[in-house]
Amino acid sequence: MRASILIGAVAYGLIKYFAGGVCRCSTRLDDLVVVITGGNSGIGEALAFEIAKKGATIVLACRNVEKGGNTKLEILKSVKNYTGKIYVKHLDLCSIQSIVNFSEQLKSEFNEIFALVNCAGVFYHPQSLTQDGFEITLQTNYLGPFILTHHLLPLLQKSVHARIVNVASEAHRNVNVYDLKAVTQCQSEFRSHFVAYGVSKLALILFTKELAKKLSNTNILVNAVNPGNVETPIYRYFPPLSNPWLYALQWPIRIVVVKNPFQGCQTLLHALLTSNRSTGQYYSDCKLSLPSPIAGNDKIASEYYDLTLQIVAKYFNTESEC
Ligand SMILES: NC(=O)c1ccc[n+]([C@@H]2O[C@H](COP(=O)([O-])OP(=O)(O)OC[C@H]3O[C@@H](n4cnc5c(N)ncnc54)[C@H](OP(=O)(O)O)[C@@H]3O)[C@@H](O)[C@H]2O)c1
Ligand SMILES: *[C@@H]1O[C@H](CO)[C@@H](O)[C@H](O)[C@H]1NC(C)=O
Ligand SMILES: *[C@@H]1O[C@H](CO)[C@@H](O)[C@H](O)[C@H]1NC(C)=O
Ligand SMILES: *[C@@H]1O[C@H](CO)[C@@H](O)[C@H](O)[C@H]1NC(C)=O
Repeated sequence: MRASILIGAVAYGLIKYFAGGVCRCSTRLDDLVVVITGGNSGIGEALAFEIAKKGATIVLACRNVEKGGNTKLEILKSVKNYTGKIYVKHLDLCSIQSIVNFSEQLKSEFNEIFALVNCAGVFYHPQSLTQDGFEITLQTNYLGPFILTHHLLPLLQKSVHARIVNVASEAHRNVNVYDLKAVTQCQSEFRSHFVAYGVSKLALILFTKELAKKLSNTNILVNAVNPGNVETPIYRYFPPLSNPWLYALQWPIRIVVVKNPFQGCQTLLHALLTSNRSTGQYYSDCKLSLPSPIAGNDKIASEYYDLTLQIVAKYFNTESEC
C-alpha cells in the first residue's frame, strides 16, 4: 500500500517535472493580430488554440493551406465565445518568392501586426537544396524566418507594442562556430542532420540577439524560446521515432518525459504575454534562461548577422526597415 502510494507520488512528480512551466499570464489579445508560421501542426497549432482563447486575430501561415483550414475549423468549433478572426495563408519558407508574396499580401490586408511567431521548422530532413539553392534545414529554420521577419518589420513597427518570438531548441548547444560558418557558407556540406538542425537553431538565437539590439529603441521585443521536448509530427524524418516499432518501445518513457503540444507551447505563450520587457533573451520553461556561450556572444551575433545579410541581402532592403 505504502509502496504504491510512493510509486504514484513519484510518477506524478516526474510527469509534473517533465511537463515544464505553465504560462500564467492573464493578458488578453483582443483586436491584436498574431502571425504564426507552421500554425497548422504541433506546437504552433497548440499556440493558435491558446491565443484564440485570449481573443487574438490569427494568421496561420502554412505551406499546406488545407491543413491550415482544418486547424481553423477546429479552433472555431472548440474555442467558446471567440471574437477574433482566423486567416489561413500560404507560406513556403523554402521559397523566398513565397515569403515575399506572403509579406506583400499581409501588408495589403493589415495595417499593423502585434506579433510574429517563427515556429515552422524541420528536423532531420533528408539533405537537399531549396529552389533558392540553400540547404533545406538552414533555409526553413533560419534563412526563411530571417527574411520573413525583415519583411514584416514595417507592420510590426506600426503596432504600439509588438513582439517577435523565434522558436529555437536546446539542440543549439551541440554545434560550434566552425559548424555555424561551414553550414552557412557551404550549403551542400554538413557533418550530419543533427549539425544542420543545431546550426539552424544557434543561428536563430544569434539573430534574435542581434535583431533585439537593432530594434532596441523601437516598440518591438524579440526573444527566442526553447519549447522543450515535445511529441509532434516533427520527428517524421527521424528513423528512431518514425519507425512505429521503435516508437512503441520508447512510448512508456516518452509519455512521461516528453511534453504534449499544449505543454510545449507554454513558453511561446509566455514570451508573447509576459509583462517583463526583456528583449534579445532566451526563454525556457516560461523563465528567462541562458543559451550556450556561443549563442550569447555579442560579437559572433553581429558578425553572423552581417554574414547572413551578405548571403540574402538581395531579397530585401534593411536600411529602410531596421
Ligand atoms: N517537437 C520538439 O520536440 C521540438 C523541440 C525543440 C524545438 N522544436 C521546434 O518547434 C517548432 C515547431 O515544431 P513542432 O514540433 O510543432 O513540429 P511540426 O508539428 O512538424 O510543425 C512544424 C510546422 O512547420 C511547418 N513547415 C515545415 N516546413 C515548412 C516550410 N518550408 N514552409 C512553411 N512551413 C513549414 C510544418 O508544415 P507541414 O504541416 O505542412 O509539414 C508544420 O506546420 C520547430 O521550429 C521545431 O524545430 C520542436
Ligand atoms: C460565453 O458567453 C456567454 C454569454 O456572454 C457566457 O454566459 C459564457 O460564460 C461565456 N463562456 C465562456 C467560456 O467564456
Ligand atoms: C507570387 O505571386 C505572384 C503574383 O500574384 C504569382 O504569380 C506567383 O506564382 C507567386 N509565387 C509564389 C512562389 O507564391
Ligand atoms: C525581467 O526578468 C528578469 C529576470 O527575472 C529581471 O532581472 C528583470 O529585472 C525583469 N525586467 C523587467 C523590466 O521587469
